[in-house]
Amino acid sequence: MEFQNGDDVASNLLKAQSHIWNHIFNFMNSMSLKCVVDLGIPDIIHNYGKPMSLSKLISSLPIHPSKKPCIYRLMRIMTHSGFFSQQNITENELEIEYMLTDASRLLLKENPMSVTPFVHAMLSPIMTNPWHQMSTWLKNEDSSAFETTHGRYFWDYAAHDPIFNRLFNESMASDARLVSDLLIDKCKGVFHGLESLVDVAGGTGTMAKALSKSFPQMECIVFDLPHVVDGLQGSHNLSYVGGDMFQEIPQAHAILLKWILHDWNDEECVNILKKCKESLKKKGKDGKVIIIDMVVDNENIDKSVETQLFFDMLMM
Ligand SMILES: C[S@@+](CC[C@H](N)C(=O)[O-])C[C@H]1O[C@@H](n2cnc3c(N)ncnc32)[C@H](O)[C@@H]1O
Repeated sequence: MEFQNGDDVASNLLKAQSHIWNHIFNFMNSMSLKCVVDLGIPDIIHNYGKPMSLSKLISSLPIHPSKKPCIYRLMRIMTHSGFFSQQNITENELEIEYMLTDASRLLLKENPMSVTPFVHAMLSPIMTNPWHQMSTWLKNEDSSAFETTHGRYFWDYAAHDPIFNRLFNESMASDARLVSDLLIDKCKGVFHGLESLVDVAGGTGTMAKALSKSFPQMECIVFDLPHVVDGLQGSHNLSYVGGDMFQEIPQAHAILLKWILHDWNDEECVNILKKCKESLKKKGKDGKVIIIDMVVDNENIDKSVETQLFFDMLMM
């Protein structure tokens, strides 16, 4: 054990205490984000067209008059965490002016890459309640803390709750919109010359729609569980097929798996990949499996490691 002088002991003790407090209260970052999105604050500031003073912001919000002083405090923590920047900082809080940052611009409803649906789905009580059951789940046989909390597998729950099904599918679609733009811009070559592609577990088809528009010669199939694709309309080179990827995958020259393998254990992933191989083989010798997923990279110590670890825990 290292020897420390009295000042070091006190300072280290305080650092340790605030480290723990920050972990206890990290959920307030999430819930403040949810609140700001629910109140539509990024859109209100954006629509104002120039830096917006606190007094103007307060008068634009549908809040109870007794809650007016709370908005300064909400904006202060959200500014601290990088969602807004401020100018005109004076003694009078009401004159502080707020501006959007890159992060809050991604929350705008009109932004085609808006991640707001992801905020709504991930921070809904259906998704956050299971976190209280993590230690209980580790002691039982359930497949996930979600099952311990809600009594059903995640996908089964979505099949039985149309509101949650829509919320979740919209959140996936919002991510697919962001990724498809990047994918088509940066990785065009991967899709050149392909006659057909099936987006396995492709949700409501956002990614496949973007690919079908950019590659009109390629026949695209969106394959997902029936409750996800039932009733969805395709186009001349896009169609929807409902089914179970553990049973059979429609035939195609290429298969896309975006955000799929991370949902399943190794054995299940091998089964999915075997079904992919069967599907590709029916079209001939050559085939392509395109996997888009998050990888945990322990070597790289930057902010994205925390994101990777969060997603790993989410999948668990
Ligand atoms: C994490 S989401 C990814 C959706 C889409 N690929 C995307 O990135 O936006 C996983 C998808 O797997 C689908 N899924 C789950 N089990 C499935 C199964 N047995 N067969 C086909 N699709 C399944 C879900 O309905 C959901 O749309």
